[in-house]
Amino acid sequence: MEIEQRTNAGARLVPGEGAAGAATMRAAVQHRYGPPSVLAVSQVGRPEPGPGDVLVRVGAAAVHPGDYFVMTGEPFLLRLAFGLRRPRHGIPGRDLAGVVAAVGKDVTAFRVGDQVFGWSTAGSLAEYACVPADTLVSVPANLSVVDAAAVPTSALAALQALRRIANVQPGQAVLVTGASGGVGSFAVQIAQAFGAEVTGVCSTRNVDLVRSLGADHVVDYTTTDFTRTEKRYDVILDNVEAQPLAAVRRALTPTGVLIPNSGRGGRWLGPLGRIVTARVLSGVTRQHLKPFVSVEKRQDLLTLADLLTSGQVRSVIDRTYPLDEAADALRYVGAGHTRGKVVITI
Ligand SMILES: NC(=O)c1ccc[n+]([C@@H]2O[C@H](COP(=O)([O-])OP(=O)(O)OC[C@H]3O[C@@H](n4cnc5c(N)ncnc54)[C@H](OP(=O)(O)O)[C@@H]3O)[C@@H](O)[C@H]2O)c1
Repeated sequence: MEIEQRTNAGARLVPGEGAAGAATMRAAVQHRYGPPSVLAVSQVGRPEPGPGDVLVRVGAAAVHPGDYFVMTGEPFLLRLAFGLRRPRHGIPGRDLAGVVAAVGKDVTAFRVGDQVFGWSTAGSLAEYACVPADTLVSVPANLSVVDAAAVPTSALAALQALRRIANVQPGQAVLVTGASGGVGSFAVQIAQAFGAEVTGVCSTRNVDLVRSLGADHVVDYTTTDFTRTEKRYDVILDNVEAQPLAAVRRALTPTGVLIPNSGRGGRWLGPLGRIVTARVLSGVTRQHLKPFVSVEKRQDLLTLADLLTSGQVRSVIDRTYPLDEAADALRYVGAGHTRGKVVITI
C-alpha cells in the first residue's frame, strides 16, 4: 500500500525513491493500525520545510504510551483525530531532538547546525522531520540529544498538570502515582522544584529511583495501598488509575485536586468514561477532579529547558533502541512498566 501524506509543513512524503532526484530518508512506517509488527523501516521521501518550518536531522526520538495507542488505533475514539481507516501520518512518534538541517525562509530563531528539541506532528521516527519553528526550543548545553528527546510530551504533561491544573504551592502535599514512569519521573522532580512535599507511588524495584528523584516519601504499592493510610494529599496526580476514583478521593483533602491522568481504558472510548465520571463528580463535591489534556506550548518547553539547565529536573532514560528496533521499543512501552523514558536513536 502506498503512503502519501502531507507533513505539517505541507511537504509531500512519498514512498520509495520518490520523484527522480528527490531526497529520501529512512523512517519507521506503518500502513495500517495494529500491534508493533505493523512497523517497518523503509525509505521514504524526505520532507521539505515550508516558510515557517525547520528541517531537523533527528538524533533521538522518545516514545510514550500515547504513541502506542496511536499505532494500534485503540481506543477507536482516537481514530477520529488520527485517521479512520488507517493512520493519517504513516510515521509514528512525536517527540524529537536533533540538529537543524535547513530552515524555511521566514525562520529567524534557528540556524543550520543548532541543536533543538520539541514536537513533530508528522512523525519523529525518521532521519528527518519538518517542524514548525514555534514548536522547537534550543537544547540546553548540559543535555544530550537523548535526554532532550525524552522531555517534550511527558515533562510537559507533568508541568501542566502540576502548575496549570493543580496550581501547586510550596508546602502542599503532592502524591504522584506511576512515579517511576515517563510522566511520573518528571512530576516528582517538578513538584519538588515547586517546593511541595512529594510522595511517589511505585513498585519495590523502583523505590530507590523515585527517592533519587527527590521524593520526600515513597509508597511501595506492592505492600501499601495509599488510599488506605491516614495521610491526606492536597494534590494527587494519578498517572496509573489502578484504583477507582472513589478510592483515590479518600486520600484527598476535602478541597484537594485530583488529576486522573491515565490514557488507558476500554477499546472503544479509552479513558473517556472516567473523564466524564470525574467531571460529573466535580459538580457535587468540594474536591476538584480535573482530568486534562496537555497542550503543546513552546513557553512551557522553555520553562522545562530552564529546569533542566539548572539541574532541578533531569531525564531518566530506561532504554534506547536503534531505529531498526522501533517495533521493540513500542512493544516495551505498551507493556506499561517503563522506568523513565524509552528513546530511539537515529
Ligand atoms: N493528559 C495528558 O495530556 C497526558 C499526556 C501524556 C501522558 N498521559 C498519560 O499518562 C499516563 C502515564 O504515562 P507514562 O508515560 O508515565 O507511562 P509509563 O512510562 O508507561 O509509566 C507507567 C509507570 O507506572 C508504574 N506503575 C504500574 N502500575 C502501578 C501502580 N499500581 N502504582 C504505581 N505505579 C505503577 C510502572 O512501573 P511498574 O509496573 O514497574 O510499577 C511504570 O513505571 C499514560 O496513561 C498516558 O497516556 C496523559
